[in-house]
Amino acid sequence: MQSKGRSRKTVLSELRKIRERDLRYESGRILCSMCTAPHSAAKIAHQLFLCSNLGDPGLFLGSLRLEKEVTKKLAALLNGKNSVGFIVSGGTEANLLALLAARNMADVSSPEVVVPESAHFSFNKVCDLLKLKMVQASLDSSYRVDPVSVKKCINKNTVAVIGTAGTAELGAIDPINKLSELALDNGVYLHVDAAFGGLIIPFLKDIDRDVANFDFQLEGVKSITVDPHKMGMTTIPAGGILFRDDSFLEYIKTETPYLTEEFQYTFVGTRTGASVAATWAVFESLGVEGFRNTVKHCIALTKLLSSGLESHGFKLVSRPTLNIVAFRSSNSKLLAETLRRHGWFVSYVPRLDCIRIVVMPHLRKRHIMAFLEDLSKIAEEHNIHASF
Ligand SMILES: Cc1ncc(COP(=O)(O)O)c(C=O)c1O
Repeated sequence: MQSKGRSRKTVLSELRKIRERDLRYESGRILCSMCTAPHSAAKIAHQLFLCSNLGDPGLFLGSLRLEKEVTKKLAALLNGKNSVGFIVSGGTEANLLALLAARNMADVSSPEVVVPESAHFSFNKVCDLLKLKMVQASLDSSYRVDPVSVKKCINKNTVAVIGTAGTAELGAIDPINKLSELALDNGVYLHVDAAFGGLIIPFLKDIDRDVANFDFQLEGVKSITVDPHKMGMTTIPAGGILFRDDSFLEYIKTETPYLTEEFQYTFVGTRTGASVAATWAVFESLGVEGFRNTVKHCIALTKLLSSGLESHGFKLVSRPTLNIVAFRSSNSKLLAETLRRHGWFVSYVPRLDCIRIVVMPHLRKRHIMAFLEDLSKIAEEHNIHASF
């Protein structure tokens, strides 16, 4: 640190310059992120609550009220009549809290968790931290977890089964209804990771899609991760964890010796109320109608992108269920790297040897059309073939 401070003008002007190196969602070039540009009301709300610390909620009763209202709205969306929860640092912390509850409830000496092969890598971190043995269940031909494989993986040490409603790689939705039956039959905890899908699937049935139940309507579902900082268009950090009812909180609570509340239930101690206020602002500004329109927009662009890719001869890994498109070429890794060099930020998924694009709300039709045009040119220039 330099000995004397610099003027505010200089500091901010340097920051503005440095920020130019960050990509902007509005450029339409970010095709690989599950986050998006925050809603305009979210940005203002975030600033208003910048000083709020929900780690010590007795000091910030307004923020606490907003967190309760936001989690209540999420619970209502996911049919959790008695659900309680928190806005946390992200899907990783939400998954951590769910498995902490499951492990502590079960009180098994060598605890195991059954996780689909397609589960998010946050479960690797969580299992490591919580000393849980991760047992992987295989997938069916549509990249959804196979309930027969899950059944085979369950034993007396199993403390939880995980299902994903919107996998990070393909947006696939596991057969949560089957997992719920298995969980109930075997007396194990079922956690649904709907970090991405939780703010999409509830609005799909109003469009043209019939999606099976994945939420608290299913008796076996004990907790759900649903992240406002993904399709909720709020500011980061805003993950969400919901439990079926408040009895689960007993298993994740920690006594706080000197704070305004006796117990804390999140892993992160000092945590912002700003993104909670931002989430509240988005929910109030958009309502169900606004969310439905956003989902409709993303699904329409997903269709445009998939049919464009197919008409250029590329093969889709699977028909998109949500707003994620994955496709292959004769050299998908090279194609992904080359696209990035040309300013198109797509993901390469080694496990499936494919390119993945997440069609988030910041994208517009013109971005998709420009991408498709460049893609063909780049593939041709580098001798990469769509069909192979
Ligand atoms: C399905 C799923 N679960 C969990 C996570 C982890 O969320 P975060 O990065 O907010 O911790 C992600 C992130 O993309 C995800 O897609």
